[in-house]
Amino acid sequence: MLSKMTQDDKIGQMTQIDPGFAGGEEQLKKSVRDGRYGSILNLFGVERVNEIQKIAIEESRLGIPLLIGRDVIHGYRTIFPIPLGMAASWDPEIVKKAFRISAIECSSQGIKWTFAPMIDITWDPRWGRIAEGCGEDPFLASTLSKAMVEGIQGDNLTDPTAVAACAKHYVGYGFAEGGRDYNTTYISEPVLRNVVLKPFKAAKDAGALTFMSGFNALNGIPTSGNEFTLKQILRKEWGFQGLVVSDWGSVSEMISHGFCANEKEAAIKALKAGVDMEMSSFTYAGNIKQLLQEGKINQKLVDDAVKNILRVKFKLGLFENPYIKPDAQNQILNPEFLDHARKVARESAVLLKNNKKTLPLSQQIHSVAVIGPLADSPRDQLGTWVFDGKAENSITPFAAIKEVLGADKVNFIKGLQYSRDKNKNDFAKTISLAKHSDAIIYFGGEEWILSGEGQCRGEINLPGAQDELISELAKTGKPLVVVIMAGRPLAIGNLLEKADAVLYGWHGGSMAGPALADLIFGKESPSGKLPVTFVKGSGQIPFYYYHDNTGRPASAKFWTPMDSIPVVNPQNSLGYKSFQLDYGFTPLFPFGFGLSYTTFRYSDLKLSSLSMSTSGTIEVKATVTNTGEMDADEIIQMYIRDRVGSITRPVKELKGFQRVSVQHGKKIEIEFRLSAKDLEFFNGKENVIEPGEFDVWIGPSSEEGLHGEFTVQ
Ligand code: NOJ
Repeated sequence: MLSKMTQDDKIGQMTQIDPGFAGGEEQLKKSVRDGRYGSILNLFGVERVNEIQKIAIEESRLGIPLLIGRDVIHGYRTIFPIPLGMAASWDPEIVKKAFRISAIECSSQGIKWTFAPMIDITWDPRWGRIAEGCGEDPFLASTLSKAMVEGIQGDNLTDPTAVAACAKHYVGYGFAEGGRDYNTTYISEPVLRNVVLKPFKAAKDAGALTFMSGFNALNGIPTSGNEFTLKQILRKEWGFQGLVVSDWGSVSEMISHGFCANEKEAAIKALKAGVDMEMSSFTYAGNIKQLLQEGKINQKLVDDAVKNILRVKFKLGLFENPYIKPDAQNQILNPEFLDHARKVARESAVLLKNNKKTLPLSQQIHSVAVIGPLADSPRDQLGTWVFDGKAENSITPFAAIKEVLGADKVNFIKGLQYSRDKNKNDFAKTISLAKHSDAIIYFGGEEWILSGEGQCRGEINLPGAQDELISELAKTGKPLVVVIMAGRPLAIGNLLEKADAVLYGWHGGSMAGPALADLIFGKESPSGKLPVTFVKGSGQIPFYYYHDNTGRPASAKFWTPMDSIPVVNPQNSLGYKSFQLDYGFTPLFPFGFGLSYTTFRYSDLKLSSLSMSTSGTIEVKATVTNTGEMDADEIIQMYIRDRVGSITRPVKELKGFQRVSVQHGKKIEIEFRLSAKDLEFFNGKENVIEPGEFDVWIGPSSEEGLHGEFTVQ
């Protein structure tokens, strides 16, 4: 194919356009006919996609099919929980199926390329896009990244339901300074390789056909012009043969970064780094021909980019089957898909507090007050990055609870109209309604618009007058259940003191309501665990569980709380340890934490051997007993610590997890295989497995667990 192509044909393939920017309908068609685009993003509807594709196939010189792309991030019409919520399920199987369903739905509408999975690790909950990723941990994110790619692409790339995945944003975008989107990132090479790159490597190994270069500058070099990450790591070290697309305008934005003087330079730098296709800026379309004539770039660079693009189109079978079958419509909102969305939302919710077994509520309860700005807000529960999901297909908590109890038992008032609402006019009515009910279920959190791209916050507390409303509700003395629906881990310390039970439901998608009702009324126990550390307030950020130890680690013994400092005091020691006077040294909730309606006892940690070689493996076993009264799932986690390294090593690192169902009164023996390869890390110069002493834990969170030790020889 390449040998038949003119320079214009090649440059056309390297350009992606949104129809809204194509100069009108007739111009769009003409440009497609002239082979000016290799891909279109955001083209809707089976007929329209087929119509434009037909022009490419039948009227363009070489008949190369267009690749039709769109952001299908956590569902197309059936909306699943935001990816951060899905990550809280720690369940790669259900996540894979969720992405398979998204692919089935969107491919039925002509979308053959989705800009997912978003696998940016972040340590900053202020960053709005934390909602879109898998949280803070490289191991969990890598496991889910693989599941997502496999779900999107399916088993057979030429199947009509296969969709090309796009691992984004390559790379480091989640480290935006101050949690302000698009911001500068400085990441040391050990953190880059030991943390940030891990899920991308997993996506590549799972066969992701495409990658997206990011908006951010990484250590001074914008990632869309970064030869080190794109050429050296992605292509050379990992052998990636797929297509790299830039993020929207990120090639021309290298001018604003101050990395390129003009579009010509931007085109050179992006092309040399290895960006094959440009999304929505036109530095390639406008300059490549001239750059070739001037000898500033060579033909091979262009040809390699075109090969990478064509390879994806061939692999997807687009040359053989470019069109969508019109009867594909019935692949949308299939009841089985919605059932799965309900299951995923259920597994994603994390129980953070449950005093005196407040939850589950009995279905025999005489009346409940359903209160709060998110109780009946069908669009908000879908979360960010939803272009095609519709509010009318959401079932809200209010609707679901009426279904369970019968409408006459449910007293409903929002109290606040939306999450940021500060108007207290309805408070009196709300309190009175609460007083006349047997229990209160408050649904609050954040509207969808408060998280997502360019939607960052400085403070991450509950917005509006929600804290005040919850305080008033607590004063009624009625059992108070607070359900948080949000796009980020909020600093909810205030409400923890007031609520009897707290369930974190994220933005749970189309079926958030029924899923939460299932948990509230005990059809199932909550089983999600936090994929991210919950901080007490913005001032604790960044706080991630796999931090280094420092030379002066804090401990309860050495922490001086601010209020206990004597007023008049000579220069004195307050401990001289690594803590904050106000927040101390522990987070609000640790990574991996989540309660259940039942209880689990961990016992009998056994290691198959107390040492292994640098190429060996050991088995680590433990017994987990369901000591409570309900069958439930438990997410069992294995962490290690490398005590001494050639560079400082994290205090804990997740190396395995399993979600298991355990019947009440029963126990299971769980086994993890730990290989020396799992202990490998980049020490600033090379990847090493260093002999020495290691700790290992098996437990219910990053803070608790049975402890063992082994050595690597
Ligand atoms: C910009 C976002 O950063 C990216 O994630 C998305 O895929 C593109 N826009 C296309 O919508």
